Amino acid sequence: MTVILAIESSCDDTSAAVIANGQVMSNVVAGQPVHEAWGGVVPELASRAHQQNIVPVVEKALRDAGVQKSDLGAIAFTNGPGLLGALLVGASFAKTMALSLKVPLLAVHHMRAHILAHFIEGPKPAFPFLCLTVSGGHTQLVVVKDYLQMEIVGQTQDDAAGEAFDKTAKLLGLPYPGGPLIDRHAQKGNPEAFSFARIKPRGLDFSFSGIKTSILYFLRDKVKENPGFIAENLYDICASVQKALVDILMEQLLNASRQLGIKEVAIAGGVSANSGLRQAVQQAAGTHGWRVYVPAFKYCTDNAAMIAIAAHYQYQAGQFASLDASPSPRAPFNG
Ligand code: KG4
Ligand code: ZN
Repeated sequence: MTVILAIESSCDDTSAAVIANGQVMSNVVAGQPVHEAWGGVVPELASRAHQQNIVPVVEKALRDAGVQKSDLGAIAFTNGPGLLGALLVGASFAKTMALSLKVPLLAVHHMRAHILAHFIEGPKPAFPFLCLTVSGGHTQLVVVKDYLQMEIVGQTQDDAAGEAFDKTAKLLGLPYPGGPLIDRHAQKGNPEAFSFARIKPRGLDFSFSGIKTSILYFLRDKVKENPGFIAENLYDICASVQKALVDILMEQLLNASRQLGIKEVAIAGGVSANSGLRQAVQQAAGTHGWRVYVPAFKYCTDNAAMIAIAAHYQYQAGQFASLDASPSPRAPFNG
């Protein structure tokens, strides 16, 4: 039996998970409320919070899984993309543990891990499938040929989908991260109330900069006419923005499915927790004959269970990292 400890520290969640023979035994996530006052993640504060959290988080993950350090057969860490200082905390901790326990080290790509979260528990997609990975920093359309063989067929040319949610939330005066709050308010509003102009991107790529500017000007003009506009229309604004962002994502997901002839379709990453996107892909399942895979909420946003499942497949393939491996904020998808 192979027991792997996995550590995720790419952004503002410190997480550790234990996986044994492909079964996730524990998954501990510690958030970082320190960023709330700043309206966004402050990299230096994130690094310090990771340093404070990592020992108790790893200890709890081991305890929850009922394993000792001596049971561990490998240590995995996120090698990027992410914030360098934050990544370094997890990487240094993982390397030190691997060195002292004399076990191999596994370096996991964060965006690949978001996709592989679909293999933590069933129902699991069949290969090849199409995955729309939407997070705070990335928006990617990926053809997943195998656990380790993946090809990006479309991606954002500017902002990520999560960023579009978070930046809109900021304009509305909502606290960070705004995505989940926009989602909650959207459920009480009319998605057809307002519409926003957008740019058509190339091929299967995405662009969110046009709609971001359109939302900015729309709010600025409306608030000039009526300073109470945002408070009076919050639910309708959130519902309309959410619909517009989900439409952009769905349009390219549909195009990709059509062009590539793939009807096995998954969504992943923080924004895959969005209720509008989840409903839209379920609807498309009915209208386009897709088989749709939507992750459990706890595996949408950042977590170490997804790093653990990716590490499990890398271990099986013998893809180990050396002790001088260093994380990178822009770790290449095919590195
Ligand atoms: O994957 P993730 O946890 O971290 C990154 O790898 O970036 O994604 C975080 C992003 C944030 O932008 C957050 O606002 C967004 O996911 N998010 C949501 C929802 N839950 C999280 N966006 C819209 N609706 C949600 N329910
Ligand atoms: Zn993520």
